[in-house]
Amino acid sequence: MQNLKEFWKLGKPEFDTQFFDINKEGELLLKEGNYQYNLHELTQKYETSLEMVFPFIIENRVENLIKTFDFYIKKYKYKGKFYFHYPMKVNQNREFILPLISEGANLETSSANELWIVKRLWEQHKFNSRIKVICNGPKTHDYLALIKELREQGLDIVPIIENQHELEYLRNYKGEVGIRVDLNVRTKSHWDHSIDRFGFTPEEILGLGKLRNLKILHYHVGTQIPHANDIMNSLKEGVSIYKKLKKINPQLDTINIGGGFAVNRDKKKMYSVQGIVQRIVSYLSKHTGNGDGIGSPHIICEWGSHIMAPSQITIFKVIGQKDIKKGAAARKWYVIDGSFMNDLIDTWSIKQKWHVVPINNLNSKKLERVWLCGSSCDSDDKYTGGSYVRLPKIEEGETQYVAFFDTGAYQDALGSQHCLLSSPANIVCQDGDINIAREHETPEEIGKKFGW
Ligand SMILES: Cc1ncc(COP(=O)(O)O)c(C=O)c1O
Repeated sequence: MQNLKEFWKLGKPEFDTQFFDINKEGELLLKEGNYQYNLHELTQKYETSLEMVFPFIIENRVENLIKTFDFYIKKYKYKGKFYFHYPMKVNQNREFILPLISEGANLETSSANELWIVKRLWEQHKFNSRIKVICNGPKTHDYLALIKELREQGLDIVPIIENQHELEYLRNYKGEVGIRVDLNVRTKSHWDHSIDRFGFTPEEILGLGKLRNLKILHYHVGTQIPHANDIMNSLKEGVSIYKKLKKINPQLDTINIGGGFAVNRDKKKMYSVQGIVQRIVSYLSKHTGNGDGIGSPHIICEWGSHIMAPSQITIFKVIGQKDIKKGAAARKWYVIDGSFMNDLIDTWSIKQKWHVVPINNLNSKKLERVWLCGSSCDSDDKYTGGSYVRLPKIEEGETQYVAFFDTGAYQDALGSQHCLLSSPANIVCQDGDINIAREHETPEEIGKKFGW
């Protein structure tokens, strides 16, 4: 069994697969403490295409992140505090957001509609009054009005100024504000640097003079940053600007390092939370708070994919096979009962690689080199894994299910309805119980969305 786990890269904290296991029937299991879910049985019961969400993984990851920052803050006797702000754009589903908040996460919004969710929770008195909210993203009139309204209702809410228009609008804003800098550092990450349209250049920010109630300097250099040194290089430039800005705005007290911690989808060696947090806190300890009036800034991070991606898997059934002509690395097409373009849209839009693991037949001795294709009629609706994906050969009469790991970030809100295919159903597995968050869509429901 150990060899099988090694082969499918399961049971490994460094790959975020530590909760997954295989039983002697070759079925995929997930262990939540002493609870256990047989994912093959659940797949048969709830039918594909199917997303499974594990909120305890979210809780575990938030807790680990906050604890790690707090540990190194104590170790280095750093005077600033750490705050995790969850960027809601990563996944706005209720079953993802509620567990985060229970673990002490603050929030970051990117639109008026996301802030409307915050408003609902605030008005229902669901929040501890200590919760903090940061508002990023382009500020429409509705967004700005909602920010003002919630501030007046007593919520600790800080808009981040990203351009001249927002600066003008927020000049007389009574609450605290932040400002976003577009760093000169170029990191290897998914981000179109050539046309970066977010934030002010360092020169512009330093030329703005004193800004009323400026508390936060914020930057975000991209998502899926593969190298720890790139995270550190951004921090170095961020701290250098922070120091200059603090001289003009003495009330500035927080540096927000944005998102970007990569999800280990390749299941290869990567930097760890512990390693990078140690470097961040150590750097800040050495370069700030040295009696030069700069103080030790509080630290905010918005590592959204890191927290959310591993908490969900997406499962499809293989509903057909087709031979691939000689010359390709793969031998067969496996047709799935879902769509890459609709359900895992990053496959198509940013050529995302996924960790693909069978739900059953994990102990199969006969493996096939396959490409997978979706059920839409689009030739782009496919996943080749780079060259090929290794999955069990499907014997006559057998049903094969496959899971795509780390799908909890971005895919739902970006998802679409090409060929009017149904979106996956969604079940939530927590404390040994299963709850259905979203049923399989009927033709009537989809038709209605399109005015039928
Ligand atoms: C301002 C900001 N913060 C945080 C994030 C989350 O990034 P990630 O999911 O890579 O951590 C994003 C994503 O684009 C962002 O724009």
